[in-house]
Amino acid sequence: MELIHQGKVRDVYADGDDLVLVASDRISVYDTVLPTEIPDKGALLTALSLWWFEALGDLVPNHVLSVEDVPAEFAGRAVRVMRLDMVPVEAIARGYLTGSGLADYDATGAVCGVALPAGLVDGSRLPEPIFTPTTKAPVGDHDEPITFATMAADLGTAQAEQIRDLTLAVYASAAATAAECGIVIADTKLEFGRDADGTLRLADEVLTSDSSRFWDAAAWEPGRPQPSFDKQYVRDWARSTGWRPEAGEPPEIPADVVDATRARYIEAYERLTGRRW
Ligand SMILES: Nc1ncnc2c1ncn2[C@@H]1O[C@H](COP(=O)(O)OP(=O)(O)OP(=O)(O)O)[C@@H](O)[C@H]1O
Ligand SMILES: [Mg+2]
Repeated sequence: MELIHQGKVRDVYADGDDLVLVASDRISVYDTVLPTEIPDKGALLTALSLWWFEALGDLVPNHVLSVEDVPAEFAGRAVRVMRLDMVPVEAIARGYLTGSGLADYDATGAVCGVALPAGLVDGSRLPEPIFTPTTKAPVGDHDEPITFATMAADLGTAQAEQIRDLTLAVYASAAATAAECGIVIADTKLEFGRDADGTLRLADEVLTSDSSRFWDAAAWEPGRPQPSFDKQYVRDWARSTGWRPEAGEPPEIPADVVDATRARYIEAYERLTGRRW
């Protein structure tokens, strides 16, 4: 296998016509990899992604080929997938307002050009889920929010509409599943690609604690940051140390923060899948 891409979190190998995606235990916040790993994170996210691919299988085809047919050293955190022609956008669905969406809303009254009613606060549920794509920036750059009109101009209206509609359908289905498990999916980022036949398939990882915001439904209360089962906890910890993404070496994560992060990722996995880790 040939290492063709080392992302912040995953290593991508080419093997013939296939790819093998290997999830590491690395964690990144604000596009910066932290120097401390979270034990089992790669295996947790791989298992959760596979569970979702299966759960969503009737709604959207995906890129998974095999979990067994991967090198033994990566077993449990690797997936053999179809090598797709990736659509160069990150397809984001938001059902709730927070993070960069909230910042955009506070500045413009809209998120990625989607106008929203006045009076929304951190954690507000949106009147209906919205599609807020970003560019997929080359390594080292940050993804930039784009309007649907820009996406349609870049990709063609038909393809842009197909991706928007599928993204919102996946979000609606996943949000309903998660609600039964006491989890609010505030937002999530999907990636799609086309196979050799031109079929659009769900790719990358899906609906994990790295690609989504998972909130505790029982504790949800708009007007403040929400308790979460994702890496917001690590973002908040990193900022609390005084480190800023623009400047300087990121800090080592102390053991108690590593443990609390791992516990959050496990909680999301266990609640959603109904399995024990
Ligand atoms: N089936 C697929 N075919 C081709 N490329 C894929 C497929 N599934 C995922 N990818 C790509 O593989 C890469 C996964 O690696 P990873 O997410 O760690 O890196 P990244 O997104 O490039 O960078 P980072 O996440 O660090 O910003 C992504 O570029 C993703 O778009
Ligand atoms: Mg990625």
